[in-house]
Amino acid sequence: MRFSIAVLPGDGIGKEIMEAGVSVLKAAEEIVSGFELDFAHFDAGAEHHKRTGTALPEATFEACRSSDAIYLGAIGLPDVREFPGGPEVSGQVMFKLRFDLDLFAGVRPIKLYKGIDSPLRDMENIDFVVLRENIEGLFASYGGGTLVSDEVATDTMVITRKGTEKIVDMGFQLALKRGGRLLDQKRVVTCTDKSNVFRSMAFFNKVFHDVADRYEGQVERDHVLIDAMTLLMVQQPQNYDIIVTENQFGDIISDLAAALVGGMGMAPSGDIGHNHAMFQPAHGSAPTIAGKGIANPLATILSGSMMLDWLSDQHSCPEAKKAGELIEQAVARTVKRGVKTVDIGGTSTTAEVAENIIAQMKAHAQLL
Ligand SMILES: NC(=O)c1ccc[n+]([C@@H]2O[C@H](COP(=O)([O-])OP(=O)(O)OC[C@H]3O[C@@H](n4cnc5c(N)ncnc54)[C@H](O)[C@@H]3O)[C@@H](O)[C@H]2O)c1
Repeated sequence: MRFSIAVLPGDGIGKEIMEAGVSVLKAAEEIVSGFELDFAHFDAGAEHHKRTGTALPEATFEACRSSDAIYLGAIGLPDVREFPGGPEVSGQVMFKLRFDLDLFAGVRPIKLYKGIDSPLRDMENIDFVVLRENIEGLFASYGGGTLVSDEVATDTMVITRKGTEKIVDMGFQLALKRGGRLLDQKRVVTCTDKSNVFRSMAFFNKVFHDVADRYEGQVERDHVLIDAMTLLMVQQPQNYDIIVTENQFGDIISDLAAALVGGMGMAPSGDIGHNHAMFQPAHGSAPTIAGKGIANPLATILSGSMMLDWLSDQHSCPEAKKAGELIEQAVARTVKRGVKTVDIGGTSTTAEVAENIIAQMKAHAQLL
């Protein structure tokens, strides 16, 4: 089976981490027979905007739409904005892809690998997923909002039944695929919101329960207010399996969750819809370390592994799933051996980490 992958390296460390990510995927394709990946690279992002006046050329968007999956590095530079004092141009790429391709689910696995120190004392295992609604909530206001007389500004939270049902249902489906929360292996989807205050959030919560009813007896449901969640996620991360939430809350708590497992360099993600999907590290372009060859490529490489898993499910291609598992196992072995970039306590370069992962994949291919 042949898959076309649109590669958007983007800005800052984007090029370095994507080079690492693509090299690992190419190795996986060589080691595991039964599928092929056709990579096509495209320029998009803040640098591209500076050069051409556009962040995402229409032809690039069309190539993304027609590819089997999108693999993205990082988009945005803090000083490249739509107008002075306005938002960054990065939204023209990220939100166009998410909104127009209906990538409604931000899937953010949070997993602690052996060899990575969590800032949480004595914490050996962490393994849960933050599921962020990706195209509604407060981000539905992107490109809108009001500013009146330089005195008052507003943005509006948008919650729809259809959008909420889609993300919550994906949460329950994901729970069925996983082995449950670490605490007691129970499959649980936890809704986190601010339903004690806002009408929109109370509605999100109501729709959550409507969907949860369909999974009665298969997956349990739980509810935690978002402010309490920032506390409980840190105190008892093993209580969680899938945490489903509104867009802006998901944006914030997924970074907090990433901090528990080694930081942004350890945070992969998938922006997933029913027909399209994009895979990217959850971090940004880290401009202060760009070009130094020290960026952590693991979030990008693990996002590549997620991409193979999604392609496998989407196209009934078990070989792609195998290749994704091979990559994840090689990542685990590599960090356990101490081959790590400086952000997670090592001294290796971006390229050395990728080379080591490929060596581990070759050495353990027979175990598949
Ligand atoms: N999805 C995306 O492409 C995305 C996401 C977030 C931010 N951004 C953009 O990125 C730019 C910088 O944003 P920011 O500084 O808030 O967030 P950032 O994620 O780029 O950086 C936050 C911190 O984490 C570190 N970091 C991030 N990724 C790392 C990696 N792979 N290895 C080692 N350290 C890493 C950075 O050095 C920095 O200290 C902004 O223009 C922002 O809009 C893009």
